Amino acid sequence: MNHQRRIWLTGASSGIGLALAEQLAEQGHRVALTARRREPLLALAERYPDQLLVVTADLTDVHAVREAAERIDAAWGGLDWAVLNAGTCEYMELPHFSAALLERVMRVNVLGTANCIEAALPLLRRSSAPRLAAVGSSVTYLPLPRAEAYGASKAAVRYLMQSLELDLADEGVAVTLISPGFVDTPLTANNDFAMPMRVSAEDAARRIVRGLERGQREIRFPGRFISVLRLIAALPAGLRVALTRRRRKSEITAQQEAN
Ligand SMILES: NC(=O)c1ccc[n+]([C@@H]2O[C@H](COP(=O)([O-])OP(=O)(O)OC[C@H]3O[C@@H](n4cnc5c(N)ncnc54)[C@H](OP(=O)(O)O)[C@@H]3O)[C@@H](O)[C@H]2O)c1
Repeated sequence: MNHQRRIWLTGASSGIGLALAEQLAEQGHRVALTARRREPLLALAERYPDQLLVVTADLTDVHAVREAAERIDAAWGGLDWAVLNAGTCEYMELPHFSAALLERVMRVNVLGTANCIEAALPLLRRSSAPRLAAVGSSVTYLPLPRAEAYGASKAAVRYLMQSLELDLADEGVAVTLISPGFVDTPLTANNDFAMPMRVSAEDAARRIVRGLERGQREIRFPGRFISVLRLIAALPAGLRVALTRRRRKSEITAQQEAN
């Protein structure tokens, strides 16, 4: 077995987080599972009662997050890894631009992550090999239609983590940004558009665990998908916009009729 780590994992009730929790527990680590829904966390914790700690919290509530960290500290006296995976996605449906939608997404993805960072850092600083990781998204490589809120929130996570990496370097707290492509989870289940090169949550979790073990600065996958996004992003802006902009329904119908 690997060295047993003390890990705080958020978003552990579903999708990538649930698969990560299973794999980390399987490897013998101690994992504090956080999400709002208690049932899925309890179901997993029953299988690994000596390793898993259920710490429910709404991450947008700073007091709840502080309490969660206090519970982890009381149980384990510190943390080796914090893997901040919890997140949400809502798409903007123009012509109605909704600032309220943007606020909802920002509150979970940016403020929720920031609340966890604030609470986790004092615990991580007591570890001999601390690592702070957060899940961003491959969407940050290329602006996509309808992703005004989600993409902006993940761009904020990218900058936050990359800036923190600079400021935490002297203290020895390593920082990892995780940038997945499309992953088959409840979050993407209702997407009404093509999701090229989508991977399973188990596959995503395996790649994340491997990258964390290796101490990668950024874990991005699938490689080919990321390369395509980067290639399109590097094109002249006019071409990039022509390739990625949202088509009006009438244009799609006309195109389908022509084919
Ligand atoms: N799936 C993809 O294609 C994809 C691609 C790139 C990046 N990502 C990112 O990967 C991460 C995991 O996504 P997923 O696809 O696995 O989605 P998911 O299945 O919907 O899981 C999201 C998790 O976040 C938790 N969560 C959401 N809001 C919360 C809040 N306010 N407080 C506490 N926990 C909260 C949810 O738990 P509760 O509902 O129980 O609170 C759930 O455990 C997200 O950050 C997402 O943006 C996903």
